[in-house]
Amino acid sequence: MQSPGNGKEPILSAEGVTKTFEDQPVLTGIDLSLFERESMVLLGGSGSGKSVFLSTLIGLITPDAGRIRILDHEVTAFQTESEWKELWCNVGFLFQGSALFDSMNVRDNIAFPLDVHTDLSRAEIDAKVGRLLSMVGLGNIQEKMPSELSGGMQKRVALARTIAMEPKIVLYDEPTTGLDPITSDTIADLIRELQVRLGITSLVVTHDIRLAFKVADRVAMLHEGKILLTVPLEEIKKSTDPRVREFLYG
Ligand SMILES: Nc1ncnc2c1ncn2[C@@H]1O[C@H](COP(=O)(O)OP(=O)(O)O)[C@@H](O)[C@H]1O
Ligand SMILES: [Mg+2]
Repeated sequence: MQSPGNGKEPILSAEGVTKTFEDQPVLTGIDLSLFERESMVLLGGSGSGKSVFLSTLIGLITPDAGRIRILDHEVTAFQTESEWKELWCNVGFLFQGSALFDSMNVRDNIAFPLDVHTDLSRAEIDAKVGRLLSMVGLGNIQEKMPSELSGGMQKRVALARTIAMEPKIVLYDEPTTGLDPITSDTIADLIRELQVRLGITSLVVTHDIRLAFKVADRVAMLHEGKILLTVPLEEIKKSTDPRVREFLYG
């Protein structure tokens, strides 16, 4: 079989990543590679360690062992906060609960990373916020507060903030949780659109199989702390592994 990266180096790779909390092993040796511009969905049941794994990629949780490389940086060897900060400009993270700042309007939420990391003027930032809103399918809602928005709109605003720094990689933590099926489908379409239009490499962790079928180029499955399989989307349905079948068909 042809390798998914056509011989190229992965843009993100994890090797033997482990994490135990107290005496509870959560990750027991994660091996996973992502190639530029692909959309990978990491499936796993609730409590299987999806969020813990994503957290190790962005430095919110330090793995006990293993190696993580992202965009040619050995992030497991990072010594300083500034190394992580530089990485965070290139790796966007969409948190499960959207994590908008409740006390800030939409404009200030989206402008936040631009205020912190760039020297753009107020006018340039405003223009950029407008473009980002339209990119996620929203109109002129800069002055609205997060509490005035539906769950789907909050997700879009959070996504606009996530892509504000034009990251090369976006990590999505359960992007459809709490949304109705129709809204979930529009978020799935948006994830795909951003991947194609902006050339973003996506890693989507979810237990939502419908989402996986809409956005994945390849699917990986997390089970008992390890990656059980990594296959092109069309192959997962053919898997005869009972653990995969149980997950897909219940
Ligand atoms: N900071 C933490 N301290 C202790 N246990 C944790 C911590 N974060 C996650 N866990 C545990 O790790 C397991 C996996 O959690 P998580 O990655 O959040 O699962 P999910 O796949 O649903 O995202 C759970 O049993 C959870 O209780
Ligand atoms: Mg989670």
